[in-house]
Amino acid sequence: MAKLNWGMIGGGEGSQIGPAHRLAAGLDGAFTFAAGALDHRADAGRDYGQRLGLVPDRAYGDWREMLGAERARADRLDLVTVATPNATHFEITKAFLEAGFNVLCEKPMTMTVDEGEEIVRLAERSGRICAVNYGYTGYALVRHMRAMVARGDLGRIRVVVAEFAHGHHADAADADNPRVRWRYDPAQAGVSAQFADCGIHAMHMASFVTGQNVERLSADIVSTIDSRVLEDDAMVNFRMDGGTVGRLWTSSIALGRQHGLTLQVFGETGGLRWAQEQPNQLYHMPLGGRLQVIERGEGNLSPEADRASRVTVGHAEGMPLAFANIYADMAETIRAQKDGRAMDPAANLYPRAEDGLRSMAAVFAVAQSGKADGAWVDARPPMFRAEA
Ligand code: NAI
Repeated sequence: MAKLNWGMIGGGEGSQIGPAHRLAAGLDGAFTFAAGALDHRADAGRDYGQRLGLVPDRAYGDWREMLGAERARADRLDLVTVATPNATHFEITKAFLEAGFNVLCEKPMTMTVDEGEEIVRLAERSGRICAVNYGYTGYALVRHMRAMVARGDLGRIRVVVAEFAHGHHADAADADNPRVRWRYDPAQAGVSAQFADCGIHAMHMASFVTGQNVERLSADIVSTIDSRVLEDDAMVNFRMDGGTVGRLWTSSIALGRQHGLTLQVFGETGGLRWAQEQPNQLYHMPLGGRLQVIERGEGNLSPEADRASRVTVGHAEGMPLAFANIYADMAETIRAQKDGRAMDPAANLYPRAEDGLRSMAAVFAVAQSGKADGAWVDARPPMFRAEA
């Protein structure tokens, strides 16, 4: 089977998330890393791209140069990943979608709700894939949780509890460090810091697993370090369109927590608990039964979990493999489109532009509610309110 051509914008040398994308895209042999504009410094981007194996004329200094050259090629890219800083996502994603490329955009997809709606409409019109990298939904057992909820193993879902709390910005002495300070500065970060950075992963995961969207929310947001304007800790209560009650805590000052993404789901006939730092175990408590540990890779899991597992039970699978499952879903979608066949339904799980838009609406709702002492506010994007 011919490999698909993959390109990347951002993710230059020393970047946080670039290496995870390159590992993930390369893992199953579906994509060839064919082009990139990897750095905001043109020479550094060209140089690093070539050191990673790009041919010189596809190691670009700038994303506009990449767009112009790639759109004219017969072997044009099948997928472009946008892994630049947040404020550039909208412009780059829009330009590549308009030129007919499939795009995987890092989160947050945009900086405003209007921009998010524009991307959703554009993706719809163009017929191209616009995916958003809520990569932690790629974990096999997160997909299994979703399958268990969907097939009714837990009955009606009463409550979902999501957390994304780390302690990496807890040091007040570090608050003026330029690598940290911009995140809490509204001029650079927008209306929200910690919720927009991490909380949206937890909220998206709650939606992904329950199959429900967030309708309204109430937020208590605080900045626990005086020099910060935007929040470093938030508690968000929410209600979902299938009647589930949601609770979400996100923090960047939670010393002792590392990545700290967890999800608990409580239904009428069972409960589930999963934590990203122990991603290979899922705890299931059936009503009237005993607590059970479901292991990634064991027999008789859902097709969605089986498809997302690569090594046998008992061996740890981690974050780049979760991201690889997002890439595997997109490879299957692109191949099915090219071959004119139906895609494997177990691969139809990658987060879409709609998810990026819903997150952006939630970010603005959290900021609005936080300013209004936790007043309940509508968390739906306007274009989906009209449809409801
Ligand atoms: P970073 O600051 O470590 O790296 C950004 C890279 O983009 C650098 O190599 C920089 O030179 C390059 N860059 C900046 N502007 C550019 C431009 N105009 N053209 C080409 N390259 C450009 O940032 P980090 O932490 O890697 O984050 C990047 C994005 O990924 C952010 O939007 C962030 O929210 C997201 N992210 C997502 C995660 C996830 O779990 N899905 C985890 C971490 C980050």
